[in-house]
Amino acid sequence: MILHCFKNAAELDKVAADFMLALVRAKPNAVLGLATGSTPVGAYQHMVQAYQQGTVSFSQVKTVNLDEYVGLAVDHPESYRQFMQTQLFNHIDIKPENTHVPNGMATDIAAECRRYDDVLSQQGTVDMQFLGLGLNGHIGFNEPNDSLSRFTHQVTLQPETRLANQRFFNSLDEVPTHALSMGMGSILHAKTILLVVKGASKAAILDRALNGPITTQVPASLLQMHPRVIVLTDCDVSYKCCNG
Ligand code: GLP
Repeated sequence: MILHCFKNAAELDKVAADFMLALVRAKPNAVLGLATGSTPVGAYQHMVQAYQQGTVSFSQVKTVNLDEYVGLAVDHPESYRQFMQTQLFNHIDIKPENTHVPNGMATDIAAECRRYDDVLSQQGTVDMQFLGLGLNGHIGFNEPNDSLSRFTHQVTLQPETRLANQRFFNSLDEVPTHALSMGMGSILHAKTILLVVKGASKAAILDRALNGPITTQVPASLLQMHPRVIVLTDCDVSYKCCNG
């Protein structure tokens, strides 16, 4: 595991984007695992800029997203499909058919989970998986639990996760109660994992994830078993690292 700490979030965003851009330049048909939430927004802006400056093309890139809310239409402003369109896909030359997000509107959820796992297999191994970190240690929407799922599955969101995501909605009632998430097995299968963590509120959970026991109660702690994890944090998360 390699840990890099940055003095500010802007610098961190640029480096996170540079990791993915370097991969795509070296391997134009790379498979990227993508995340949503506030964490990747700055990195996606840098990727859009690089495309607009003509220094990269995504025309052969394939993407798979980690998760989606159950019950939000694809054009709902807070659906993760809509987030990806607005933040990234609409501004680069990626082919729409090469972008994959679970369908949270599927009537048969079990079938949708199976379909998404088939989609994941068809793309081949994810070259780089971008991950944010939930306040409770979740990655994707793999919430702390007595057991974790290997494959794509439906998740009941924990009250603290719904509260944390309330900021994107008008009220807590509007925050979906369920989501579909890529399983831990699929996440850990990626060749490289880029874990990006910002803000003092995440310091304690990042410490537990990186240095605590490996436990299903902190899903991100399973990353300790992955051979190639790059962790990017800002000073608020790792003040010791920034202050020597
Ligand atoms: C969300 C997403 C995660 C994300 C995490 C942190 O609910 N399902 O993929 O990494 O929670 O979100 P944020 O980046 O907004 O702090």
